[in-house]
Amino acid sequence: MAILLNNNGYDNESWRQELTRRLPELPVRVFGELVHPADIRYAMVWNHPAGDLCRYPNLRAIFSLGAGGEHFMGDDSLPEVPIVLLADPAVARDMAAHALYWVATFHRRYEDYRRQQSQKIWDRKKIGPAENFRVGIVGLGRIGTEVARRISDFGYDVSGWDRAERQVENVECYCGPQSLTDFLEINDVIINCLSLSPKTKHLLSYRVFSSMKPGSYFVSISRGAVVDDEALLDALDRGHLAGAALDVFAHEPLPRDHPYWSHSKVNVTPHMSGATFASSAAAVVAENVRKLERGDPVQPLFDRHGA
Ligand code: GLV
Repeated sequence: MAILLNNNGYDNESWRQELTRRLPELPVRVFGELVHPADIRYAMVWNHPAGDLCRYPNLRAIFSLGAGGEHFMGDDSLPEVPIVLLADPAVARDMAAHALYWVATFHRRYEDYRRQQSQKIWDRKKIGPAENFRVGIVGLGRIGTEVARRISDFGYDVSGWDRAERQVENVECYCGPQSLTDFLEINDVIINCLSLSPKTKHLLSYRVFSSMKPGSYFVSISRGAVVDDEALLDALDRGHLAGAALDVFAHEPLPRDHPYWSHSKVNVTPHMSGATFASSAAAVVAENVRKLERGDPVQPLFDRHGA
């Protein structure tokens, strides 16, 4: 029995080494190497070609090598085995660091100091304390909760919104469509941590951006297609929003002719806020393999029907 590995160009070799070290009894076959389909018990993949995973008759589970599972959605022949998402605490922590960077940048006006430096201007901006700067997290799943917790540790006033009811220590939680406007209009920065599903696609719409506080900022770190890009550009262009920091996009790489690239209020980063490193992630995956071998439940599972 063996593992099929396809991290789609992102460092298969470290994954092979880390998995082999932790699961020596399961040889790793990188996609493209010669395999006997009946030998494959687990597939560990990212953006794997549609139509391939149904070729392995003894497949017990599929592991996403990333936090999201929407890369499986285009594959109608996907076998009915559990799809296990990658919940690596190191990735959630790094995403929180990225979000905090932008919160601090906007709150403490670092971009102004950069501009001032180019003119040798010494001028300390008047700002309020962190406790008065309100940060709203949209999407309080595993990653959103970690982002909320870490940013709140730095003294910011953090609240969160989710479609479902949630509880996070020190974080005021709003839930359901009826409370969205109340949540949006109080925050100085909104951070998108929503995963992508048919229910969240373009959820951040004209109405949502128009309900945000005038002069506030927007940060996006989960999935680009949650955002209606035209609505965001409209809110920036009419001066309703002061700026945006976008790490994720509906189409990646961001097409060269996309208006975000040259927009003076938009900061573009290339989907780097939570890079996955095999050194930490393979331990999480290997632990889940051991649980499956024992017949124990594993978490989190991807809901292929898009809840
Ligand atoms: C990256 O976006 C991931 O899903 O891990």
